[in-house]
Amino acid sequence: MKNFLSILLNVFLFPLFIHTTQVVINNLEPRLDVNGVIIDAHDGSIQQFEKNGLYYMHAMQYGLCKEPPNYGCDGAGMSSRCGFQMNHNISIWSSPNLTSGSWSYVGNAIDVADRPAGVVFRPHLVYNPITKLYVLFWNYMRWNLPSLYAVAIADTPNGPFRLINPALNVSRGGGGDFDILVDDDGTGYIVYSQNYYMSVEQLTPDFYYSTGKSYMFEEYFVEAPIFMKKNNIYYALFGWCCCYCMQGSGILVHTANNPLGPYTLQADGDLACEPKSNTSKTVLPLTSISGLPTPNQGCEFHNVNTTSIARSQQNYIIKVTNSTGYTTYVWTGDRLNRSLFLLVDRWQQAPDGIKGHEPQYWVPLNFYEEGTIGKMQWIDEFILDV
Ligand SMILES: *[C@@H]1O[C@H](CO)[C@@H](O)[C@H](O)[C@H]1NC(C)=O
Ligand SMILES: *[C@@H]1O[C@H](CO)[C@@H](O)[C@H](O)[C@H]1NC(C)=O
Ligand SMILES: *[C@@H]1O[C@H](CO)[C@@H](O)[C@H](O)[C@H]1NC(C)=O
Ligand SMILES: *[C@@H]1O[C@H](CO)[C@@H](O)[C@H](O)[C@H]1NC(C)=O
Ligand SMILES: *[C@@H]1O[C@H](CO)[C@@H](O)[C@H](O)[C@H]1NC(C)=O
Ligand SMILES: *[C@@H]1O[C@H](CO)[C@@H](O)[C@H](O)[C@H]1NC(C)=O
Ligand SMILES: *[C@@H]1O[C@H](CO)[C@@H](O)[C@H](O)[C@H]1NC(C)=O
Repeated sequence: MKNFLSILLNVFLFPLFIHTTQVVINNLEPRLDVNGVIIDAHDGSIQQFEKNGLYYMHAMQYGLCKEPPNYGCDGAGMSSRCGFQMNHNISIWSSPNLTSGSWSYVGNAIDVADRPAGVVFRPHLVYNPITKLYVLFWNYMRWNLPSLYAVAIADTPNGPFRLINPALNVSRGGGGDFDILVDDDGTGYIVYSQNYYMSVEQLTPDFYYSTGKSYMFEEYFVEAPIFMKKNNIYYALFGWCCCYCMQGSGILVHTANNPLGPYTLQADGDLACEPKSNTSKTVLPLTSISGLPTPNQGCEFHNVNTTSIARSQQNYIIKVTNSTGYTTYVWTGDRLNRSLFLLVDRWQQAPDGIKGHEPQYWVPLNFYEEGTIGKMQWIDEFILDV
């Protein structure tokens, strides 16, 4: 009876309930939680694990630390700086539709006391279909010692996560920015930067270790990678180093038929670095009374006469599939906006400069038939079918 009912529901009634939810994603307003508070969530992963399920964000919480003026990584060796504190939480947020005002705080993924001491960057969650566990990776900096990747597991995206390996044994040692790809057959791969060079490496079936099988890219002074697969093409996207740099960076697209390469660099250049003369007309002005663009980083490292059209550094790609199965790839980048509270606080003329309030820029990616990705543009807002 139960089976018959569910067949009846699925075959005859379910189509009646197919509906589309169109939402507006705005890049000019800060993203808010369900209580109307700016979400303090950066540098993380955003994904849906089941059709019509919630979107989960696992991201860094910097707290209400007031950023001193000048460059984002000034005094990176000083624990007083907002981006370099040991107590930053890896927090979990969920939303049914990705809109501002829809995010609910779920909790912290793992207590600060239960993880190895360090400054955490880029928490990224994946699901391992072989172990049926959710695996959370993060990069942590240990001041005078090499940075490492930690691996933790949980039964659900809500956590709590349990540390399983404090030091993923990637073959080039240490670690910088990274991303994880889970292939259709359940094999896991990490793309990671170390010493300003980028590599791909295959993980063991449980994702707790590296197998050591790897491929290394040629570009120097790169970080912030994204690793994904679309129509059987593997994509590694990364840009010029940009240490909390205000002006943002670019995106170099590398494609391959095999996750371990060899990779080919997309021919028509960087997706987001544009001549400064051009971007001055098309993107937000970089106005701030405290922050400054970091010289010779981001697009400027490659060509001083260019800068980032996205005003942000690459972070993650959100896959959004609508009810007819069409997937939109939404690129997210972390953007510094130290002028954020210029208007709010203007009677005292005090810049907010709060690190936890720095926004993100979200934009859909345009794929061409042969698999290349179109140039990025600045867009104030767009409509997304969730
Ligand atoms: C981390 O989370 C704890 C518990 O919710 C909170 O008390 C603390 O203020 C958070 N830290 C930061 C840096 O936001
Ligand atoms: C998005 O989700 C929030 C939180 O559940 C809800 O209040 C809002 O109405 C939703 N927006 C749309 C367009 O469905
Ligand atoms: C990493 O450690 C695992 C487990 O000990 C081992 O099987 C693997 O060969 C190691 N990988 C490298 C690259 O050393
Ligand atoms: C300058 O911007 C315009 C408009 O966005 C674009 O069509 C053009 O390709 C850009 N030029 C260069 C050299 O990037
Ligand atoms: C940048 O522009 C200046 C002034 O036009 C020019 O002299 C210089 O060669 C340009 N640099 C590059 C890398 O294109
Ligand atoms: C899903 O997106 C595709 C591409 O934009 C569109 O053609 C299709 O109509 C959308 N499906 C629904 C149910 O809106
Ligand atoms: C960036 O700062 C400006 C100036 O205060 C503000 O109008 C804008 O809303 C901020 N943008 C975001 C995405 O927070």
